[in-house]
Amino acid sequence: MSVLAINGGQPVRTAPVGVAWPVFDQREIGSLSEVVRSRKWGSTTGTHVREFEKTFAAFCGAKHAICLTTGSAALEVALRAAGVEAGDEVIVPPYTFIATASSVCMIGGVPVFVDIEPGTMNMDPARIESAITPRTKAIVPVHIGGRPADMDGVMSVAEKHGLAVVEDSCQAHGASWRGRKVATLGTGGAFSFQASKNINAGEGGAIVTNDDEFYLRCYSIVNVGRIPQGDWYQHEFLGSNYRMTEFQGAILLAQIARWEEQAATRDANAAQLDRLLADVDGIATLDDDPRITRNAWHLYVFRYLGSNRGVSKETFVKAVSAEGVHVSTGYTPLHTTGLFQQFSKQLEAVGFYGGRRIDYSELDLPATQNACENEACWFPQTVLLAPASDVADVAAAVRKVCENLDELV
Ligand SMILES: Cc1ncc(COP(=O)(O)O)c(C=O)c1O
Repeated sequence: MSVLAINGGQPVRTAPVGVAWPVFDQREIGSLSEVVRSRKWGSTTGTHVREFEKTFAAFCGAKHAICLTTGSAALEVALRAAGVEAGDEVIVPPYTFIATASSVCMIGGVPVFVDIEPGTMNMDPARIESAITPRTKAIVPVHIGGRPADMDGVMSVAEKHGLAVVEDSCQAHGASWRGRKVATLGTGGAFSFQASKNINAGEGGAIVTNDDEFYLRCYSIVNVGRIPQGDWYQHEFLGSNYRMTEFQGAILLAQIARWEEQAATRDANAAQLDRLLADVDGIATLDDDPRITRNAWHLYVFRYLGSNRGVSKETFVKAVSAEGVHVSTGYTPLHTTGLFQQFSKQLEAVGFYGGRRIDYSELDLPATQNACENEACWFPQTVLLAPASDVADVAAAVRKVCENLDELV
């Protein structure tokens, strides 16, 4: 038995784990300075954003991609383009980043939370149907950590009830479900290029779709109501300026060029973690699903099962950190955040509350609650891009803590 570092023992790791982030080289520097020198800094005159849209649409196997300022804006625009109006209900999971649900509120809609599957951390499609009411307009499945949600389950309920599906693919660049890239399975999907994402421009977003009409609505909302090939001062619809800059377009063209190579490293590191953690008593890796033909591995999410042995997730994470390896405790349940506990009051105060009153304080979502309190942990993507020896140390730190949980009781 070895003494845990948190109790004064030798840590497994003393050097930092993972790669320096973000990854860049002369490609980013060269294309950025090209944009500066061109004096075409906006996407209405420059070519980089347009070129990236074509590249990203092809990357997603989609007809259209439209870039915009952020992933949050991509969700808001996509939901509006899908026909969500004030007072409409939108089904979302509670185990995700706030923007999945707050984007619904930002356009006057009402998020309806549906619990997750304990073994995948994604929305449980078996629970969607009972959450549908006459006001339901759309479903937003999230591909959490880059792992596709059960899109067969989501699409069959959506098709039965005539609902739009906006895939929150903000963490899932390049992921695929039964051979089809995420964001092309539903009406469309939203991506983020925020600083932590696998394809990163500091900030940025995109909407991807195969649906021509949906694309045109998104185009117009992003471009102050303009239409493609319309005149500069021709505004046919209500929109705003959500356009991406050429600086972001240039960075993204460079970033996407190294995706293939990085994805191979992510796949290899995730497979190594799966292998090394498989027989650790106190850890469960997420459920296998052969319908996932590519996991984007933005995060490596796993389950800590030691809480029922008297050692909380917080204590486990602290002990692994003391071994020199950072583990995240993941999200808190969205419906318990200040925003949703105060939801009705807040939206009434700003005057765009259009729907039925929902009291989120009474919601019981046991799988999400258990994941957040007891089980869900993740390694960030810098670990997924790290050298194999770092990954071995990461797994060794988790194993050491789990094998010595008694020291922590
Ligand atoms: C699941 C999910 N949805 C939406 C977003 C929002 O993207 P952004 O930060 O680009 O607005 C993020 C980004 O953190 C995310 O992880």
